[in-house]
Amino acid sequence: LGESLLLYKGAVFALQHFENGIPEALEYLDSLKSFHIRDGDIFIMTFPKSGTIWMQYIVSILHENDHPDLLEKPTYFRVPWLEYLRPAHKIDTRESPRLFCSHLPQHMVPLDLQSNRAKIIYVTRNPKDILVSYFHFSQVLNTLETADNLDEMLENFLSGKILGGNWFDHIEGWFNNKDKYDILFVSYEEMKMDLRSVVMKISKFVGKILSDVDIDKVMDRVTFKNMKNDVKANYHNSVQGNVLDSSKGSFMRKGTVGDWKNFLTVAQSERFDQVYKERMKNLPVKVIWD
Ligand code: PPS
Repeated sequence: LGESLLLYKGAVFALQHFENGIPEALEYLDSLKSFHIRDGDIFIMTFPKSGTIWMQYIVSILHENDHPDLLEKPTYFRVPWLEYLRPAHKIDTRESPRLFCSHLPQHMVPLDLQSNRAKIIYVTRNPKDILVSYFHFSQVLNTLETADNLDEMLENFLSGKILGGNWFDHIEGWFNNKDKYDILFVSYEEMKMDLRSVVMKISKFVGKILSDVDIDKVMDRVTFKNMKNDVKANYHNSVQGNVLDSSKGSFMRKGTVGDWKNFLTVAQSERFDQVYKERMKNLPVKVIWD
């Protein structure tokens, strides 16, 4: 798909992470099926722009006592991408529980995940906000091709020609196979509406007992404003490494629910709804649109 994206087995990956190009990417992605899962591993699964870094940061804060050696590292190092792991992450020698995140569709994840030895947190977000967030993000991320306008972005989204692939397939794969995993579903909108409940729910799920004061501290660190200002929480280092172009915008852009209303026309929104209605009719997913 263009120069920067690789379409493989229905999912779309960023080629920039594979120095030796497509053959290396295919071999690595295939190898993930037999990736060794350790007892207690925790995976954050998302479609891109659904609140991944927010959940990465929350989960990594909950595990700071387990990984004192990683305290000075940015979030994306503390919770690395499974599909883009590097030797520098030293994942084999990390203390348990190891933390990962991934945009992989259900059919490409390690088979061992079905042994219920690992926990999965799947974050959903209303797809119109994902689309708008992606449109802006593709302008900021130097290696991602940018749609010329929202009409093109809409068609790219609906046909899955974006990082991650097809949102409908992603959500369908994970929801339809949820019983095979120890999985917790959380929505971005729920996090915006009642972060305290979400932090409590996640800490219970990963087996951490938090006092009210602990919860307050986590909540304070993960507000949009604090994460935007905290260079280790977000992708600030990538800006310096020229991966992100800060003159075009910020990874921590707006952090709101319903921003799509400021961008999509009525016609674009209706076109989206048409496909949504058809694709989601059998899925028990309730989306909060604003
Ligand atoms: S990526 O590229 O897939 O890892 O992006 P992802 O982290 O999934 O999504 C980025 C969007 O999440 C917003 N964000 C937050 N919103 C509210 N509170 C906090 N703390 C927070 N952290 C990240 C971020 O701003 C992107 O959404 P938009 O709508 O573009 O602002």
